[in-house]
Amino acid sequence: MHKIELPKDKFFEKVSAQGFALTFDDVRLKTGYSSVMPDDVSLESKFSRNIPLKIPIVSAAMDTVTEHKLAIEIAKLGGLGIIHKNLTPEEQSFEVSKVKFYLNGLINKPKFVHEDDTVESIINRIKDKKYKFRSFLVLNNDKKLVGLLTGNDFEFCDNYNLKASEIMTTELITAKVGTTLDEAYEIMKKEKKKMLPLVNNEGRLCGLYVFSDLKRIKSGTSPMYNVDKNGQLRVGAAVGVGDDAFARLEKLVSQGVDVVVIDTAHGDSKLVIETLKEIKKQYSSIDVVVGNISESESAKRLIDAGADGIKIGQGPGSICTTRIIAGIGSPQVTAVYNCSKIADKTGVPVCADGGIRYPGDVPIAIGAGAHSVMMGGVIAGTDESPGETIFFKGRQWKEYRGMGSLGAMEKNKGSRERYNQKETGKSELIPEGVEGLVPYKGKLSDVIFNFVGGLKRGMGYVGARSIDELREKADFHMITASGQKESHPHDLEVIKEAPNYAPPTKREE
Ligand code: XMP
Repeated sequence: MHKIELPKDKFFEKVSAQGFALTFDDVRLKTGYSSVMPDDVSLESKFSRNIPLKIPIVSAAMDTVTEHKLAIEIAKLGGLGIIHKNLTPEEQSFEVSKVKFYLNGLINKPKFVHEDDTVESIINRIKDKKYKFRSFLVLNNDKKLVGLLTGNDFEFCDNYNLKASEIMTTELITAKVGTTLDEAYEIMKKEKKKMLPLVNNEGRLCGLYVFSDLKRIKSGTSPMYNVDKNGQLRVGAAVGVGDDAFARLEKLVSQGVDVVVIDTAHGDSKLVIETLKEIKKQYSSIDVVVGNISESESAKRLIDAGADGIKIGQGPGSICTTRIIAGIGSPQVTAVYNCSKIADKTGVPVCADGGIRYPGDVPIAIGAGAHSVMMGGVIAGTDESPGETIFFKGRQWKEYRGMGSLGAMEKNKGSRERYNQKETGKSELIPEGVEGLVPYKGKLSDVIFNFVGGLKRGMGYVGARSIDELREKADFHMITASGQKESHPHDLEVIKEAPNYAPPTKREE
């Protein structure tokens, strides 16, 4: 459990007593006595009450960052991807389904035939639909499972007018709904069965495990994969407020989305809270993360309204201009601390969204109270992010833009809604973000490797074995501009490129 008084409390109390709020460049973690080796730490954490993470890194719900390719890769690395909402509900739920079906553990809607279907009609269907498999579950008029047809049954059948019920196998092993991938694997191995249908109390078909899939998953997956109880990669999706949220939710839930994020620039607002309450009423089993906010009172209101996770960050992002255009927002480290202080009393996890540039920013965000960080700019230049690489001034780049940038808002209502401009005409839009290019960075796994490496080293210096211990033990120094200058490499004429460090960005006009 979290202690009431933490080492960092005094630091933040003093800072706020003077009316200041701090961000990453203003602070460094204090080192402490340590017997912790960086490679021995646990990075397990949570994005929301029921959504675990194996590394505390989540990808931003942005149209230049997270679609299925990046979401699959980040879940394989132990994190989580949030599919953006600059897509129609159909397109977005299709993206979700591609992640869920990447490791096809449990088939939720198995193909079946009817007991009265003739062999000929089934063979025609296999040809028409180009099915690559020849095994089908057989249902009766009550939709109850009565048998199984396999390739062998077709092979040895010389009368194509026979009905499925006349050639099917009736010796079936079934399991109950909720059987996990591991349990299914053990049952199938013991019983030497290639298929394990799941049925409910009435004997109706509710899912199917196929042994060859399970074998591939179990031999090919790493324990780092962030998977659900069916062995499928976890994925989240962004939704808006009101009707938008419900139009998306129905489709997202049917594709097995694990968590939804009410993704707005001002989470502490009437429509967001109403939407949150309604989602929790209609979809009580799905976790809802809500954002963005930066004040403790906002955190309290969202948690009281039923949030399973909250997302902190108003204006820290690399493409954000909200603070400059609207004049609002709290620097990120103070915002994370203040919101997590409230959230910790309730067990609701906090995600620090935006402003991460260097690996060392991650232990700082977590030390301040976050359970996870959300990153956009850091991973927008990877192979897995949407979009092609661009050659410009002799280098490779990828496009990265704010969801509140003119380009993103002109393209889709999803972006305009995030900034409360859903019904605004294109010529009257007020952007709160910019469009730009980030250096091409190659594989996502290489980028994440360096960020995870930095976090582990930070934990080693603080003496924290786990994410919770880092949140509890962390204490801070405030640093001046000279301290910050000293922290970066200095007094070298030329700095050789390092895999985990580039000097603060020089802007290309
Ligand atoms: P980083 O720093 O990781 O930030 O690139 C990503 C986060 O920035 C937020 N975001 C925006 N904020 N205007 C804003 O003020 C925008 O146009 C915009 N687009 C994204 C978002 O929270 C994201 O995760």
